[in-house]
Amino acid sequence: MRKPLIAGNWKMNTKLEEAENLVRAMLAELDSIESVEKVLCPPFISLAAVKGLIKDTSIKLGAQNMYFEDKGAYTGEISPPMLIGLCDFVILGHSERRQYFAETDELINKKVKKALESGLTPILCVGESPEENEAGRTEEKITMQINAGLAGISPTSQLIIAYEPIWAIGTGKAATGKQANATISLIRGILANLWNKETAKAVRILYGGSVTSSNIDEFISEPDIDGALVGGASLKADEFVGIVRQTSDLKSTR
Ligand code: PGA
Repeated sequence: MRKPLIAGNWKMNTKLEEAENLVRAMLAELDSIESVEKVLCPPFISLAAVKGLIKDTSIKLGAQNMYFEDKGAYTGEISPPMLIGLCDFVILGHSERRQYFAETDELINKKVKKALESGLTPILCVGESPEENEAGRTEEKITMQINAGLAGISPTSQLIIAYEPIWAIGTGKAATGKQANATISLIRGILANLWNKETAKAVRILYGGSVTSSNIDEFISEPDIDGALVGGASLKADEFVGIVRQTSDLKSTR
């Protein structure tokens, strides 16, 4: 059984105090929903404060990025040892990192390897651009990203994949549940080829892109979708709690 997971990617939003207020506004309700794994990914500067607030709750913490070296002259970067003990998850290869910070599959592969070696659970993001989607090249793009991102990595279910079509991120134009499920089941096929069937079945795969409390049901009711990576809607306490609650209600009746 794959436990459903909802992760909130706050991106470059919230100052320290805003981050603390946002956590306080959803803490008790989120904590009470046990059948879903809940992961908050605030900006680096708020990780320690949020860690303090969620102490003794069932809520987990993730970082939004990480470098693959342990330490050294890499101005502005954050290393795995800095994150260990602070968070359990790390988002890697988000399309915004690929697009605005020129992250390549090769770099992302190094980060994924390092995260796993360090005991952090990577949330590896993949997804096609609007042009690739229109040209019918979704499968080709996703296959390339998964194979390159996971090259040289042994089969493991301590890894989460987020399928986030770029055309659906922050646009209010989410994929349909059927579309997302088709690509996610394709990703399971790619994992089965690269690794093996059992691992492909055990890896949790999320959908991301304009998920809200109004459309989460559509994704969660699909068999291959194990949860969501939520951007904009994770910055509103009611919305995020609503998404987690509906996920819990739907998955437990399945
Ligand atoms: P969105 O972002 O929910 O605001 O579309 C999702 C993401 O980029 O992870």
